[in-house]
Amino acid sequence: MAVSVVSRELEPERIARLEEGDPPAVVLLDQRRLPDEIAEVACRSVAEVADAIRTMVVRGAPAIGVAAAYGMALAALRGEDLVEAERTLAASRPTAVNLPWALAQMRDDPTPERARVLHREEVERCRRMAAHAAALFRPGTRALTHCNAGGLATGGYGSAVGALRAAWERGLLERVLVDETRPLLQGARLTAWELETVGIPHAVIADSAAGSLMARGEVDLIVTGADRIASNGDTANKIGTYSLAVLAAHHGIPLYVVAPTSTVDHAIPDGSAIPIEERDPAEVTSRFPARNPAFDVTPAELIAAIVTEHGVHRPPYAESLP
Ligand code: MRU
Repeated sequence: MAVSVVSRELEPERIARLEEGDPPAVVLLDQRRLPDEIAEVACRSVAEVADAIRTMVVRGAPAIGVAAAYGMALAALRGEDLVEAERTLAASRPTAVNLPWALAQMRDDPTPERARVLHREEVERCRRMAAHAAALFRPGTRALTHCNAGGLATGGYGSAVGALRAAWERGLLERVLVDETRPLLQGARLTAWELETVGIPHAVIADSAAGSLMARGEVDLIVTGADRIASNGDTANKIGTYSLAVLAAHHGIPLYVVAPTSTVDHAIPDGSAIPIEERDPAEVTSRFPARNPAFDVTPAELIAAIVTEHGVHRPPYAESLP
């Protein structure tokens, strides 16, 4: 993997793109190094794209799907075995359904143009979701978010962060509390950086501070993304989302999930069937034995609404989810 430094812009093609030169490459903004360094990783084979997904050069459910789509186009350009390429990419991370969804989208047409259309459509879905989600905010809303469901995580604009951006543009958002999101700090490194870039007032908090700030009346709503939504509305998202949802229910605060339909898995009836990734314990601590489940499942009854590009969906989700 070659590495080079680029500028700070966050256009979709800066987050992920396919370069059709000789040799061709999937070029990804290296999210592991943000916000300190703006660097790109050029993946010149499917194995390198899969490795970039596994090691979280690119992360966030829709962005993983976009990278996998470019990976399939790269495989076709290089004459790699497409069945093997799909298997390699599908095995890179287990929880976000956007990955197998994107691979299925590419199966009949693994061309660069198809991958670019898939990327463009994900960003358009984000803008539509954000507009729907803005209706959930009132003037002066103080929001809390977890992990990073921004442009970085979606290939552009963002789902939960897109909702925050749309609310801010409409004058409905006062400020955002950003869970730092242990152990990999997607909130403290990526969401805070994105909010800073678009000028939204925010403060990073330790994950363990969320409950006490809710008790003090400092949170009006919680908005998160999702990695996989079962057909009954149970939602897998970054570890810690479930704890937030329980706290929110205790304090009477609504928790909203904002995610495109590429994150909805109607093949799964409820959250118990969602595969939860266990990552290297060394991401938590290498000094003692550790556990590192990367996601948890929030039961549908703790989610006040799920917002997709089609609108705001309320319980019962088995009936309302598109
Ligand atoms: O492990 P990550 O950083 O890929 O986890 C990302 C999340 O949990 C996001 O909240 C989710 O993918 C939604 S992104 C729009």
